[in-house]
Amino acid sequence: MAKLMIHADHVLNKIDKEIYGHFSEHLGRCIYEGLYVGEDSPIENVNGMRTDVVEALKEIRVPVLRWPGGCFADEYHWKDGIGPKENRKKMINTHWGGVVEDNSFGTHEYFELCRQLGCETYVNGNVGSGTVREMSEWVEYMTFDGVSPMADERAKNGHEASWRVNYFGVGNENWGCGGNMNPDFYANEYRRYQTYVRDYHQDHKIQKICCGPNVDDYEWTREVLKTCFTRSQEEQHGFMDGLSLHYYTVPGEEWNHKGSATVFDEKEYYKTLHKAYFMEELVQKHGAIMDEFDPQKKIGLMVDEWGTWYDVEPGTNPGFLYQQNTMRDALVAALTLNIFNKHSDRVRMANIAQMVNVLQAVILTDGAQMIKTPTWHVFRMYRDHQDAQLVESSIEAAPIGLETENYVPNLTESVSVDQDGVLHITVANLSLEEAYEIDAEIQGRASGSSAVNAGTAAEKGGCAAVTGEILTGTMAAMNTFEAPEAVKAITFNDVKRTENGLCFTIPACSVIHLAVR
Ligand code: AHR
Repeated sequence: MAKLMIHADHVLNKIDKEIYGHFSEHLGRCIYEGLYVGEDSPIENVNGMRTDVVEALKEIRVPVLRWPGGCFADEYHWKDGIGPKENRKKMINTHWGGVVEDNSFGTHEYFELCRQLGCETYVNGNVGSGTVREMSEWVEYMTFDGVSPMADERAKNGHEASWRVNYFGVGNENWGCGGNMNPDFYANEYRRYQTYVRDYHQDHKIQKICCGPNVDDYEWTREVLKTCFTRSQEEQHGFMDGLSLHYYTVPGEEWNHKGSATVFDEKEYYKTLHKAYFMEELVQKHGAIMDEFDPQKKIGLMVDEWGTWYDVEPGTNPGFLYQQNTMRDALVAALTLNIFNKHSDRVRMANIAQMVNVLQAVILTDGAQMIKTPTWHVFRMYRDHQDAQLVESSIEAAPIGLETENYVPNLTESVSVDQDGVLHITVANLSLEEAYEIDAEIQGRASGSSAVNAGTAAEKGGCAAVTGEILTGTMAAMNTFEAPEAVKAITFNDVKRTENGLCFTIPACSVIHLAVR
């Protein structure tokens, strides 16, 4: 029996919905085919955005979408992607797969996609190969309402009203594909570029994201903060609102042998989860450095690229980064999102890489067909954590794995209370063999001690009710175009009332969400 302690009356902080954010790059079939098929496509679409994918994404309540890259961002010249489509430049996407980029998806299309999704916008600017003027004009084009060359141009291109840019990234991976810069050089460039990311709306501030470290490059974090974090307590706004962090879970030891997405043994399963669990250390250590500069936690750690990265599916373009998605990925997502929830005092945004058809995608498409991956199901099960209040909780966990260096905790959890007072408990069992009985003690909640079996609230005279759902399967279980619902979340009713809370058994390799009313 594993004890889960929930202090429902000890609210820690809000879990910003942006932690459940996504990333879409001009890479492989993410934008083209995955999200955008064009108005003339036989695939059902609204203004070019495929309807099946948009509907599936709305179900998981995508809060924010980062675009246009990634490495592509520091090669992207936004003026190539506006105006009549027939006049837009055609070029080779040299970074990703050497295919033709016809720029038919540009600024207007991005905002249209976000409108359809009902999500916030996160535009990533070009520092590596772009100019300050180019970046400044892009911000003017997107957000200025008065008379100006860029606002006039936008109107001429069919959009009179300005848009809202919620987040603006000043460069991407500038320690690598974004210009191979040293931290002090980038930091000074950042200060200069961000100056011209102007706020044209009185009532709306663009949150500026500074390029943060690659994985565990703590020196980058410290050096960049030394130069860029200037906010004094009195100041309304400093130079930055967030620092990004990129970390991918790659099971293989070599970049050209990352491991297969679908064919792996138990050892590789635990190794993958062990590597995903490294996120805990990264968030803690980068967070500790941020605390030195910013003890009041005014800026956020934005994990704007995370997820699994395997070898591409056999026979696909190596530059397209197309990979399948299994229960192993679902467990990586559940583990990682629990980590983000628990550190949501500092982690204010995270963007899984990438939304469709690339890396740990929530959606895969094949022509007109579409499937929801096991990762999609985890995002759906966790969606109630968005903008809910994190409450204090802990679970008795034990290390598991096949080798000591590949250990992971058997159980991870996070708990929040939403604005209707509903308690959301998400638990992941990473073990491949063991089911665990969980004794959940809920303190500080009048109805916590009277929770009853799911669906029987009325019988128990209006006591609190629990509804549950579970995602479970063998480690390599996946959805395919032939069997699109082989892995899916189903109702989980087997929750018993106890004197102090709830008791349930979580099967091996499973994720559970319980909503306690
Ligand atoms: O997500 C794929 C790539 O990974 C991104 O373009 C880049 O930022 C990172 O290295």
